[in-house]
Amino acid sequence: MTPRMFRIRRATRRDKPGILRVCRAIWKDDYIIPAFDRLYRANIFFVAVKEKEIVGLLRVHKTFDGQGFMSSLRVHPKHRREGIATALNEGCVRATRQWGGRRLRLWSEGWNRPAHLAARSMGYRETGRFWRYRATPKKGGPRFDSGMGSFSPTKLLNSPYRRACRGYLAHDFEFVDWRKGILQRLSGANRIRRVDDTSAGIVDPRTWRRYRYRAVEVFLLSGEPGPFLSAARSYARDHKFRLVTGYFPKTKEVVRAMKETGYQKVDWGHPAVLFEMRV
Ligand SMILES: CC(C)(COP(=O)(O)OP(=O)(O)OC[C@H]1O[C@@H](n2cnc3c(N)ncnc32)[C@H](O)[C@@H]1OP(=O)(O)O)[C@@H](O)C(=O)NCCC(=O)NCCS
Repeated sequence: MTPRMFRIRRATRRDKPGILRVCRAIWKDDYIIPAFDRLYRANIFFVAVKEKEIVGLLRVHKTFDGQGFMSSLRVHPKHRREGIATALNEGCVRATRQWGGRRLRLWSEGWNRPAHLAARSMGYRETGRFWRYRATPKKGGPRFDSGMGSFSPTKLLNSPYRRACRGYLAHDFEFVDWRKGILQRLSGANRIRRVDDTSAGIVDPRTWRRYRYRAVEVFLLSGEPGPFLSAARSYARDHKFRLVTGYFPKTKEVVRAMKETGYQKVDWGHPAVLFEMRV
């Protein structure tokens, strides 16, 4: 085996310029560039260093369900196919094991074939596909009711929607296991809202003032999609959010409800492909 020409180590704050240089070499408007400080505080970053220069990076964090989530994988275009992404991922595997996680996940946009091929070659397998939708706030329409009503964690656990989502739910821009303990925690954190006894889902208001981001992230858990989606738009209007966004599976019922309630597919127009590997 040829020795590696690069070294993998945990990043420090001083690596910021080198990290941003790699990001800019790939995408000038990479979301990591304005968000780096916030991401650095909430994640473990790893970098690949070659002849004292940063040539690759990624980050990993512990998910709501105690697993690992890898993201922001970037390898400088001049240093691709040298095994750098694969080696960086080994850092995520170690970190996930250290906090007792058994699985490591990532998601990638549907068009990104090189990323999918790299993920497969590292040992991940595709475990789900979600479409991202958005809607503007809207006056009127149904409102969320307080309390869980008839939507007990057991009812939410047995929702047919769970199968459409292949056993995952989207929360906090990551995908976690759709299981009772998670539903109980979300309910305890007042994240689950319902409309009468017709539909329920996760409502997660997000504000990042520095990036002028004010959106309500939603996820449908149970019942008819329409009332929940409409109520999310009213909620956004009442609480002065600029957008409603969320990940949804592509079922006939969901697509129809999206149309009827004025939601649109987010412009990149590709599914978020979820991958998972055992560690
Ligand atoms: C995806 C990316 C991180 C891969 O980085 P990399 O360091 O080149 O990946 P590796 O060298 O570890 O590749 C491991 C294996 O993945 C597969 N692979 C990676 N890139 C590939 C490509 N462009 N075409 C075909 N297979 C590819 C190959 O099987 C490769 O093994 P091989 O070189 O021995 O054939 C890199 O292309 C990149 O930075 N892309 C832009 C940013 C991005 O899309 N990030 C992912 C967001 S989820």
